Amino acid sequence: MKVPLKYTFLDLGKINAPYMAEIEEAVVRVIESGRYVGGEECARLEEGLKELTGAPYAIGVSNGLDALRLILRAWVERGDLTAGDEVIVAANTYIASVLAIIDAGLRPVLVPADMATLNLDTSRLEEALTPRTRAIMPVHLYGRVCWDDRLKSFAERHKLLVIEDNAQAIGARALTAGLHGTHATGSLGDAGAFSFYPTKNLGAMGDAGAVVTHDADLARRVRALSNYGSDYRYHNISLGANCRLDPIQAAVLNVKLPYLERENSHRREIAGIYEAHINNTRIVKPAIAGNDMVWHQYVVRCAGRDRLQKYLAEAGVATDIHYAVPPHRQPCMQGVDYGTAGNALAIADAIGESVLSLPVSNCTSEADARAIADIINQFFL
Ligand SMILES: Cc1ncc(COP(=O)(O)O)c(C=O)c1O
Repeated sequence: MKVPLKYTFLDLGKINAPYMAEIEEAVVRVIESGRYVGGEECARLEEGLKELTGAPYAIGVSNGLDALRLILRAWVERGDLTAGDEVIVAANTYIASVLAIIDAGLRPVLVPADMATLNLDTSRLEEALTPRTRAIMPVHLYGRVCWDDRLKSFAERHKLLVIEDNAQAIGARALTAGLHGTHATGSLGDAGAFSFYPTKNLGAMGDAGAVVTHDADLARRVRALSNYGSDYRYHNISLGANCRLDPIQAAVLNVKLPYLERENSHRREIAGIYEAHINNTRIVKPAIAGNDMVWHQYVVRCAGRDRLQKYLAEAGVATDIHYAVPPHRQPCMQGVDYGTAGNALAIADAIGESVLSLPVSNCTSEADARAIADIINQFFL
């Protein structure tokens, strides 16, 4: 018998319900404006992202994958990167990170993840280095900051461009040696890519994304590339595409952005409850970092992951897996010339086999999290 899931994983209707009156008003405003491409809502979102990240330039685009693609294409166009140059990226990322690198004619070099953080292992970056290494893509996976002094000095020492995949970590902040206070992910490197896919911590009601950077020339190129390569009307400086931000999605995001910190705090509270209450020795909980993370996912590891997932479903707890099949196992990657460092692929496989995401969004109350922890504590293999 199928048990109805008492504890949902993510219910987007419920997530958006508190904002619906404001969202309806904002969307109607766009419809009544008669301006359906670009316009005020897009500009407002860009201002909001500048304020959030402290970066001087933000460009709204169509989605997170395009944000990554446009940054890399702009660097190729400017001559900072050339075909076949290598970009270091964790082997256990979501495939979009790798697709963007390949799309720009570059070569992904998959590096090992650190089992404690599930982000790339910054103690093993030298293993990935070749004469073609030109860039590194830290992915702030699951909302955990992928940034430390080792990564920063590695990039500086080898003059690498740093492109942050910040799709999962909007609102997270990192400490950086030599810089005062914390700084927002997405603004730590040379450019950052954001996704507003509906399930993200700041989710639209369709696809949307953004690029954030400190580099004025890069910002100008990304904006042009996202708009047929046009810098002003009927003037095309590059072979661009149409990857513009939809103003209706921008209007939705402008309503939700002021509440992002509240939502992220709630995620931190739920993660704190799991951390305090889950005490089953079969479960490896995610390490709590000093950096300010935003728990896009709360991911535990368990040797009997599939049994754990089944057990939880039978107890009414919905879970998800991010990601069971790593990029190098995907059929589309089989003919691709990518590099690897050390045992990166074996580690990515081990992560894919053992990870399980527990509910951590606004759909999960503190009482729910305590109940879920109790259920997990009663799991025996
Ligand atoms: C790590 C990561 N990178 C990139 C993307 C791509 O974002 P989008 O779905 O908006 O294209 C996603 C999300 O889907 C992601 O999780």
